[in-house]
Amino acid sequence: MAAAQDMTAANALGHEEAVELARRHLIQPWPTAGEIGAEARSLIGEGEGIYITDGDGRRLIDGPAGMWCVNVGHRREELARVMYDQAMQLSYNTPWYTMSEASAVLAERIAGHAPGDLNHVFFTTGGSSAVESALRFMQFYNNVRGRPEKKLILSRGGAYHGSTYLSASLNGRPRDRDWMDGADDLVIKLSSPDPFRRPSGMSLTAFADQLVAEFEETVKRIGADKIGAFVGEPVQASGGVIVSPEGYLPRIRKICRDNDILFISDEVVTAFGRLGHVFGSQDVFGIEPDIITFAKGVTSGYFPLGGMVVSERLLEELRRSNHPTAMYAHGLTYSSHPVGCAVALKNLDLLEGGVLAHAQAVAPYFQAQLKTLEELPLVGEVRGLGLMACVECVADRESRNPLELDRNVGMRIDAHCHELGLLVRPLINMCVMSPPLIITRAQIDDMVGILREGISRTMDDLRKEGVWRG
Ligand SMILES: Cc1ncc(COP(=O)(O)O)c(C=O)c1O
Repeated sequence: MAAAQDMTAANALGHEEAVELARRHLIQPWPTAGEIGAEARSLIGEGEGIYITDGDGRRLIDGPAGMWCVNVGHRREELARVMYDQAMQLSYNTPWYTMSEASAVLAERIAGHAPGDLNHVFFTTGGSSAVESALRFMQFYNNVRGRPEKKLILSRGGAYHGSTYLSASLNGRPRDRDWMDGADDLVIKLSSPDPFRRPSGMSLTAFADQLVAEFEETVKRIGADKIGAFVGEPVQASGGVIVSPEGYLPRIRKICRDNDILFISDEVVTAFGRLGHVFGSQDVFGIEPDIITFAKGVTSGYFPLGGMVVSERLLEELRRSNHPTAMYAHGLTYSSHPVGCAVALKNLDLLEGGVLAHAQAVAPYFQAQLKTLEELPLVGEVRGLGLMACVECVADRESRNPLELDRNVGMRIDAHCHELGLLVRPLINMCVMSPPLIITRAQIDDMVGILREGISRTMDDLRKEGVWRG
């Protein structure tokens, strides 16, 4: 009864008061110093299917599916019900000394989808904690094996791996580290595998060769005995949906295997359907990592849950080591949360029961329709894979210079699209699209139509302001 009264109070609050309260008391993620603690963002009141409704009652297509996570769509009654049922049966149990049935069953179901001998799952609260867990596992693994020097981590430009200290230290997107510290002594950055930004005139094959050569030279220069892991997203998501050149990932995988470097595939975005499969590492890219991290789509965003799937080979090595009492002193209060695991199981039912097949069926249409936006002179490239794509705007197509046009073009497009009924994920000069996987062809047409109009209006604005002559 108390909960119902609270809900009524929140709903009765009204848009303007909520905005005011946020300005006075809420700190938003990724704020700037000038606005920290004094900012209100678009209020979202409801969601249904691929749509959300904002504080003014305007229905919007949820272009980014929340944060690449609402894979089966909003307001799925079966998911809400299973969360309610689990909370009524067992709302929480300590993972320190106990376990829930849901966590064991979910681990088995996830292991069944993971490639090769990746058959054990450690659950976390989200993506950052999944990456953090994998990195701390690598450190523990090498300590137990008597290789305490083998701890450096290879990461790449354009990467995003999280907001905890070590996971954030791997991030390679422009600006993320301008004002933030990181464990720089532990991380080595390699080039982004971004074909759009490859040297002009270079073939994709030569670009892949260049990236592989850089990787090999780095391993040689630093020494394989000092490098513990490579962490990479199969498709760099928040860096602008960067799809590496054909053959690059399997070649990096081989170098890692040959040099005893753990290959950690960060599938926080790509897993659970975004590429049409539960995991993309093997089904899409033909690689078998040592560890896969996941989050987001595992519960379609209905509950914060993430995790890592670990190779049996690594666990076996630990179990047979000379240090059986050495402890992987790492765990979270909400590891294996029963409500999260229960909703993830039902979400997996939905994915296996048709959503994955639907995503595979509509993905080519989604990519083809978005690609038509390259007709617009502000658009430098539209790229993507599965149901994730990025529209990258450039000041001029020849130089491909995004910075000259760095007048928050992504935000401007988003503002126009919002008026027209579409929420976009703006990223500096880019717009990322990753809708719920249940989107239909007709809804894709609506989405692309609005985006086209939003970009056209942005071009008009830029011309009027005299900052662009395209
Ligand atoms: C590839 C990748 N890894 C890790 C993370 C961090 O996940 P979370 O925000 O759930 O901590 C993200 C978040 O977007 C991500 O895209």
